[in-house]
Formats: sequence, structure tokens, C-alpha cells
Amino acid sequence: MSSKTDDTDQRTGPRHVAIIMDGNGRWAQGQGKPRLFGHHAGVKRVKEIVRASPDHGVKYLTVFAFSTENWKRTQAEVSGLMKLFRRYIASEARDLLAEGVRVRFIGDRLQLDAKLRRVMDEIELLTSGNDRVHLTVALNYGGRDELGRATKRLAREVAEGRLSPDAVDETTLARFLDTCFLPDPDLVIRTSGEARISNFLLWQSAYAEYEFVNTLWPDFDATEFARVLAGYGKRERRFGAVPA
Ligand code: FPP
Repeated sequence: MSSKTDDTDQRTGPRHVAIIMDGNGRWAQGQGKPRLFGHHAGVKRVKEIVRASPDHGVKYLTVFAFSTENWKRTQAEVSGLMKLFRRYIASEARDLLAEGVRVRFIGDRLQLDAKLRRVMDEIELLTSGNDRVHLTVALNYGGRDELGRATKRLAREVAEGRLSPDAVDETTLARFLDTCFLPDPDLVIRTSGEARISNFLLWQSAYAEYEFVNTLWPDFDATEFARVLAGYGKRERRFGAVPA
């Protein structure tokens, strides 16, 4: 799907919000605590923002939980994060189901631990009938990695004669992306004062609005979320066209 053709109404807020949840480590270190303490605090905010989303008409929420580059962190932090993901997914499944949340993942799962992959598969299946809010968790996700994997699959279709090279255009390529089930993000928020996109939704964010906020992710609450969404409503999105 493309937001160039969808019915997003910016006056009533973004339909798809994507978030780079940055600053957990600094938040913890600022309190003299280990970095993982910040990631645990970050999970609480994920829950809060998921719950607040339908109140603002946000139907799709995509969060960047672990990038293809995050493997470069210490082994202790990586394994702590993986354990946190598994525990969070398993322990929240029933509540997410009851709250109408449909959970899906993007990223390369093949490198993830089998036990984590199992809870991911289970929650996707369990919540597959939900439609109130769509939570997509980017886990072992990188935009370039996604484009590489998509291109490989597309090339295979061509090599095996199922797709003509002449039929390949941007719509075709989008069908091979991890996000093929999602509309493009209308708004990308990054917390912690860093103004970069860190390989997140590179293709999909071509026409997204960006909001960089100074707040560290564990302090980003529903009130600040509402403030950022209100700011989005004042922007004029033109998608390359001249204003009417
Ligand atoms: C970036 O902060 C944050 C992460 C790499 C992890 C984010 C993960 C969560 C909030 C848990 C979400 C879990 C689920 C299942 C949705 P940082 O560590 O880079 O912080 P720093 O820039 O201050 O070092």
C-alpha cells in the first residue's frame, strides 16, 4: 500500500506512526543503573503508547526494538534484550489479544533464537483476528537488509520465469518487503534528541513526516505522544505536489 494513494487525513492525525525508541541506555545510566534497566522501563512505555493509539485514530504503530546493527552491543546487553523480548511477548499475549491488538514482526527472523521465534509465531497467530490497532515490532530489522532480502526474492521470481523484468516497478518491489501488509508511515518519531533514521523503514518513509523529540524513550508518555500527534495535524503534506 502507498500513502500517496490512501485516504490519510492529516487533520485527524496520522494513521500509521513509526517510532525509533532511543535513549533507554542513557536514561538508565543517568540513574546509575545498568542499561538493561532502561530497556525494561522502555517496555512499559511501549504498552502505554499501544494503549493510547486508538484514542488518537492511530491504527498502525510500528516500533524499532532491535536493529541489524544492534548485534554490535555487548553480549550481555544483546542476550538481556532477547530475553526481555521473549518474556514481554509471552507475558503480554493475553492482554494484547483482549485489547484488540494485532501483533506482527518485521526483520530477519532466521538469525533469532528458536524459542524467541516460537513466541513470535504464537502471538502473530493468536492475535491474527484483531483489527483495533496493528502493532508491528521491528526485530533484527534493517532497511537495507530488508531491501536486500526483498530483491533476492524478486530476482528468484524473475529467474524462475514467474515475473517479467518489464513488470518490475515500485509497487512490485513493495510486495516483497517485510512491510507488504502495512500502509507507509505517516509520521516517524525518534526520541532522545538524535536526528537520524538509523536504517529504519528507508523505503517506506519516502513521504513520512519526521518528529525528533529530546525526551528519552522511558520518559515518553501518552501526554507527549498526544502533543506530537497534535503537531502533526498542523503540517501540510504535499507528496511533491503544489498546494491547492
Ligand atoms: C535504543 O536505546 C533502544 C533499544 C535498542 C531497545 C528498544 C527496546 C525496547 C524499548 C523494548 C521493546 C520490546 C518489545 C517487545 C516491543 P539505546 O539503548 O540505544 O539508548 P542509548 O542511545 O541511550 O544508548
